[in-house]
Amino acid sequence: MSKEDKPLEYERRIQDTKSVAQRVDLDYLKRGNRFRDLRRKLTWAAPLVAMIGVAPFLAGIGGGEKIFSNGAVSRSHAMFESNCPVCHTGVFTSVADAACKNCHDGPPHPAKAIDTGKPNFELRCAQCHLEHQGSALLAEVADGNCTVCHDNLTANAGNVKLAANSVTAFREGKHPEFAALKLKDGRALKLNHAVHMPAQPKTIRNIKLPMKCGDCHTTDLNSPKGDLMPVSFEQHCRECHRRELEFDVYQALGAQSAPAPHTKDPEAIHNHIVTTYQNALAANPFLPQRALGRDFLPSASPAAWLEKVVRDSETFLFERKCKYCHEYEGSLGGYPVVQKVAPIQGRFAGAGQPGLPWLVRGEFSHRAHRAMECASCHTAAAASKTTSDVLIPKMADCEQCHGDSGTHLDRCAQCHQYHNKAKETDKDRRPVDQLIGYRREGS
Ligand code: HEC
Ligand code: HEC
Ligand code: HEC
Ligand code: HEC
Ligand code: HEC
Ligand code: HEC
Ligand code: HEC
Ligand code: HEC
Ligand code: HEC
Ligand code: HEC
Repeated sequence: MSKEDKPLEYERRIQDTKSVAQRVDLDYLKRGNRFRDLRRKLTWAAPLVAMIGVAPFLAGIGGGEKIFSNGAVSRSHAMFESNCPVCHTGVFTSVADAACKNCHDGPPHPAKAIDTGKPNFELRCAQCHLEHQGSALLAEVADGNCTVCHDNLTANAGNVKLAANSVTAFREGKHPEFAALKLKDGRALKLNHAVHMPAQPKTIRNIKLPMKCGDCHTTDLNSPKGDLMPVSFEQHCRECHRRELEFDVYQALGAQSAPAPHTKDPEAIHNHIVTTYQNALAANPFLPQRALGRDFLPSASPAAWLEKVVRDSETFLFERKCKYCHEYEGSLGGYPVVQKVAPIQGRFAGAGQPGLPWLVRGEFSHRAHRAMECASCHTAAAASKTTSDVLIPKMADCEQCHGDSGTHLDRCAQCHQYHNKAKETDKDRRPVDQLIGYRREGS
């Protein structure tokens, strides 16, 4: 260590009470002081200046109370954004649920009637719906508000029946695989997707395959969620499967005979067959002179002939043709009864009717994904050979965009509802002044 670096010798100073008291200047407050005077004046002047500056705003001249605001309120609330007391019912207190409930029901969670669990606590509306964040959507709720319960549901709620106790992100292991994949498609219609969509193009009976999804599944353009239209025999099958309705088992009618109608009324089918043969008989009285099999000789009377062709044609139609696509459940009036073909399970039941969804506890919209090819979600459809196959997507088919993308698409609230909409009362139609919280001047 050099000489200069050495610490200076510490000089001890002995301090007794007397020497300390001598250091206090007892006349200090009696003497005038420039800075102290200025400080006293400032104590009064600064707030005064501030109040004068703020007065126009308090009086509603200029920007209104907006000047105190924490930033613009959400787009949906913009119409009463400068009327702070609509939400801020108390000063220096958090925004109470009661303020929101003046205009909204905010019905309780869980969203679906099948779930009846009761949360042990409730978050305030304003904890999930953040205000003063500019034009962000209020419904884009952060995941922390969901996982606060769902990371350990049984600890945070009573009467829990859900299988998944801990759901923390939309990822394998952190979110359950869709329960719907364990179901069966119980539709009573034989449909082999694969024969209609072979991997390699081919031609059968002059029909060019593969077909495209859209040849049978079309979008309902009136549906806001882009639901699909029901598949119908007339629009989507008849063109190629008309021959499955042909009943002319003895080929007595020639190539142009009209096939049976596709109907649930066997009487109508019977009448169609009888009339068709009667007309043929009228046009050609010699028809019965053709042998119809070994045990039915040409000498038969026209009436006996008619009875036989009709009976055999019906047997042929019902036993061979309809069964190409259908199953039967018993018989009625001598005719088999075709099993009811329920609408395709899904969010629609045709004609805008809500159907039974596959994803019972999650939302979905085909329209939001209209840019995507069908097969990128329905990966199993083109190779499916039986109706009972479930063709809806797996979690893995969604994860590329939802879960880890770092966007709002990852959020729980993107795919789930929170509020039980069924418990909403009809609060949403009210006069304007109630909706914006006050009457505009001059109105
Ligand atoms: C649509 C309802 C709504 C309106 C209108 C509204 N606010 Fe807010 N404001 C909120 C919510 C919600 C919060 C978050 C506070 C909480 O969690 O309780 C908040 C927070 C604030 C905060 C932050 C202080 C705090 O308690 O966290 C200020 C400051 C504020 N608002 C000022 C205003 C002013 C000034 C106006 C009027 C120009 C206004 N707000 C209009 C809903 C509203
Ligand atoms: C004076 C009436 C009024 C008050 C008070 C009010 N809102 Fe609204 N809110 C509306 C109206 C009107 C809409 C737009 C129509 C709609 O979506 O229902 C709306 C829309 C919403 C939406 C859906 C829009 C979106 O961006 O996702 C949410 C969520 C919402 N409000 C939450 C709240 C919360 C939370 C509070 C309390 C802090 C609150 N509101 C207070 C009238 C009100
Ligand atoms: C745990 C978070 C959470 C809480 C607490 C919460 N919400 Fe919501 N809210 C959501 C989510 C998520 C959505 C969007 C999905 C939906 O509509 O269910 C939403 C949607 C809404 C909507 C829009 C509904 C629509 O039909 O567009 C309104 C209005 C609303 N909430 C009001 C409220 C009110 C009022 C409260 C308090 C009583 C409240 N919320 C409490 C999460 C929450
Ligand atoms: C205060 C606790 C709590 C919070 C916060 C909470 N949940 Fe729930 N959640 C429950 C309970 C309880 C059930 C019903 C469980 C049962 O019946 O087995 C449930 C059920 C569900 C279900 C099953 C389907 C349904 O709605 O019935 C989904 C999905 C769900 N919550 C998603 C969410 C999302 C998304 C959020 C955040 C916006 C959220 N939860 C916030 C407690 C909570
Ligand atoms: C020849 C007409 C036809 C074509 C082509 C077709 N489908 Fe289907 N699809 C049907 C019929 C009929 C049903 C109802 C039978 C059933 O429930 O399986 C159905 C049912 C479905 C279902 C729901 C039933 C379930 O079990 O999950 C999905 C999903 C589906 N098709 C997707 C597709 C996709 C994707 C394509 C294209 C790769 C396609 N389909 C091509 C006729 C067709
Ligand atoms: C573009 C023509 C076309 C359309 C439209 C069409 N199919 Fe087919 N279908 C075929 C062809 C080709 C075959 C192959 C069988 C064959 O050799 O005739 C077939 C075979 C079938 C089979 C027998 C499958 C098997 O396992 O062998 C069924 C059942 C079937 N189709 C039902 C339907 C239904 C239901 C519809 C309407 C939703 C429909 N098809 C629409 C062309 C079509
Ligand atoms: C190529 C396949 C195919 C053949 C062959 C076929 N059907 Fe169908 N059938 C369908 C499809 C697809 C539906 C459901 C959509 C619709 O109603 O158009 C259906 C629906 C029905 C229904 C309605 C069931 C209900 O839910 O009410 C009846 C009844 C029916 N068919 C009877 C017949 C009869 C009888 C035959 C024979 C004469 C026949 N079908 C032949 C494809 C076929
Ligand atoms: C982003 C993934 C995705 C894409 C892309 C997609 N689907 Fe779906 N599809 C689904 C999901 C998820 C369901 C189950 C919805 C439910 O009922 O809960 C479904 C259901 C269906 C059903 C059953 C009935 C219904 O509407 O619920 C049919 C049929 C179907 N899709 C056909 C198609 C066709 C055809 C296309 C292309 C035009 C297509 N899908 C594109 C995910 C997708
Ligand atoms: C290629 C990326 C991609 C894939 C894969 C994808 N999504 Fe989406 N999804 C999106 C985009 C983008 C949006 C937002 C579209 C919009 O807001 O218009 C969206 C929106 C949604 C919504 C909200 C719909 C609405 O009405 O606003 C749900 C629910 C959803 N997706 C579920 C799913 C499910 C379930 C799957 C898997 C079967 C899936 N998505 C696969 C990109 C994707
Ligand atoms: C991409 C869309 C998507 C996202 C993101 C998502 N979920 Fe789900 N979740 C679903 C679908 C779809 C189902 C329903 C499957 C069914 O009913 O078969 C489901 C089912 C659930 C269930 C019911 C589980 C059970 O036991 O049946 C809970 C709870 C749940 N989700 C919570 C969450 C939470 C919490 C988050 C955010 C951390 C989240 N989900 C994010 C699509 C999503």
